[in-house]
Amino acid sequence: MNKNITVLRGDGIGPEIVAEALKVLDRVCEKYGHTFTYTDVDIGGCSIDKYGVPITDEGMAKCKAADSVLLGAVGGPKWDSCPPAIRPEKALLAVRKELGLFANLRPTKLFPQLADSSPLKQEIVGNGIDLLIVRELTGGVYFGPKKTEEVNGELVATDIMPYSEHEIERIGRVAFETARKRGKRLASVDKANVLDTSRLWRKTMHRLAEEYPDVELSDILVDNTAMQLIKNPTQFDVLVTENMFGDILSDEASMLTGSIGMMPSASLSEGTLGMYEPIHGSAPDIAGLNIANPLGTILSGAMMLRYSFDMAEEADTIEAAVNAVLDAGYRTGDIMQEGCTKVSCSDMGDLVAERI
Ligand code: IPM
Ligand code: MG
Repeated sequence: MNKNITVLRGDGIGPEIVAEALKVLDRVCEKYGHTFTYTDVDIGGCSIDKYGVPITDEGMAKCKAADSVLLGAVGGPKWDSCPPAIRPEKALLAVRKELGLFANLRPTKLFPQLADSSPLKQEIVGNGIDLLIVRELTGGVYFGPKKTEEVNGELVATDIMPYSEHEIERIGRVAFETARKRGKRLASVDKANVLDTSRLWRKTMHRLAEEYPDVELSDILVDNTAMQLIKNPTQFDVLVTENMFGDILSDEASMLTGSIGMMPSASLSEGTLGMYEPIHGSAPDIAGLNIANPLGTILSGAMMLRYSFDMAEEADTIEAAVNAVLDAGYRTGDIMQEGCTKVSCSDMGDLVAERI
């Protein structure tokens, strides 16, 4: 199959980790006879430096025209003082919105080989953590009206969190469908004791539940979810939640697995176009040192094959290769354990590619 992939390497460790993911995708192409054509587009700080904007219109058009998009990470202290309209993160939000990427899947899986890297005790981790956060990605407070104004001699800032029924319904459907293919348990996370948006969320999820009698739906408040993720993470199968709650809970969940560097994500639209990225940031403190963990990006590549290209076997092959490398005791610094072999970012990419 021929596929066009727009590649957004971004800032910090972005270019290093993306290079390793492409190495692995190239091996997949060789093995299965596919051709992937990569088109690079600058995003974030590197684009601000070159063009004065975090993504150009031309770059955005290349994202829209692709079969899928692979992203490293954006941002860094150098651009922290940029005005809000041209901050690096703005480009990420714009791509999500323009491409209609409303469904963000963030799987949290504790690889058994890394059980010791989890900050949780063995008795809590049990036989392993395997949950999936389905985060609404193009609505809520991230995209609602916002302003900062002077009122009675002081500054007042406002961010509005709007949600319409159709936005809740379409993310709800993705969550129910996904739960149906996994453990058939869906926890809908909200703050219905306080927020109107959450009350509408809950009502909509319950209405949808009637169409999915085989999926067990439960409601859980977001503050309680934050606690339960630490206290008893194995109770969860699929969680569905609004944009900002999902942002916060997915960082929390990633730590259960020992390192945020391991976690991939998929951002999906109504069609097959998707954007795939590790959930971690640009880690400017270790940029250019060739020590970052590329596995989250490599596993994001696997998600791309599975969700955008319908290449389940190829995706399985990448995941199995990552497993084999961990089994063989290779670790980047963030997941290093006694008795293992510490490797660089590029070595890790080679090791995975060799096992495809
Ligand atoms: C994420 C990130 C982004 C978000 C930032 C970089 C805008 O934290 O993908 O989780 O808040 O969505
Ligand atoms: Mg985040």
